[in-house]
Amino acid sequence: MREPLVVGNWKLQGSLVSVEALLGDLLSATPVVGVEIAVCPTYVHLGRAITMCGRSLLAVGAQDCSYVQSGAYTGEVSPAMLAEIGCHWVILGHSERRQYQGESDALIAAKLAAAVEADLSPIVCVGETREQREAGSAQAIVSAQLEGALKGQANLDRVVIAYEPVWAIGTGLTATPEQAQQMQAFIRGCLMDISGVDATATRILYGGSVKAGNAASLFVQPDIDGALVGGAALIAADFLAIINAAAA
Ligand code: 13P
Repeated sequence: MREPLVVGNWKLQGSLVSVEALLGDLLSATPVVGVEIAVCPTYVHLGRAITMCGRSLLAVGAQDCSYVQSGAYTGEVSPAMLAEIGCHWVILGHSERRQYQGESDALIAAKLAAAVEADLSPIVCVGETREQREAGSAQAIVSAQLEGALKGQANLDRVVIAYEPVWAIGTGLTATPEQAQQMQAFIRGCLMDISGVDATATRILYGGSVKAGNAASLFVQPDIDGALVGGAALIAADFLAIINAAAA
């Protein structure tokens, strides 16, 4: 049985004041049982978020990390540093980093290894562009991304996969529950092929315009184990509604 996981990716949004207000609203809501919850603010807001979340059910994650633990790497933040301050999760290979920072599958694999070494739990993002879907190559793209990122990773225990079709991110164009289910079942098969381990316990999230109004129809699908939420995670009532949909 896979416990649902709902993660808010706050991206490059907010100020210390708005982050404190949003966390205050989330922490004052009635705790929802049976769903794991996390929020991922920017690096500079992590410390405050971790202090505020304390021993609550709200875990905190980073949106990225370095592929090395220390050294002369100006501007980098290591997985060990994130773990030390109380981060539990780290998002890796988000399509925005692949697009704007040119992150390759090899770099994502190195970050994944470093994150696992530091005892962080990585959320590895994969997903095709609209052109790739229209060309009929969505599955080939996703399986290549999985293979590239997970190469050499024999232990998937801590790893979560997020299927985020690029054409659905921030566009309001959600994948239909059937489209998402079909890809996520395919991903589960790929995980078994790549790692050689049983991936029935591995959680696979969907991300891309998840809203309060469409979350329930996604979560009833057998291979959708939760969501990685962007825009709707910045509004406490909407994020809480998505969490409640996952618990239902
Ligand atoms: P939106 O929910 O805003 O489409 O963003 C999804 C996403 O990129 C989460 O990582």
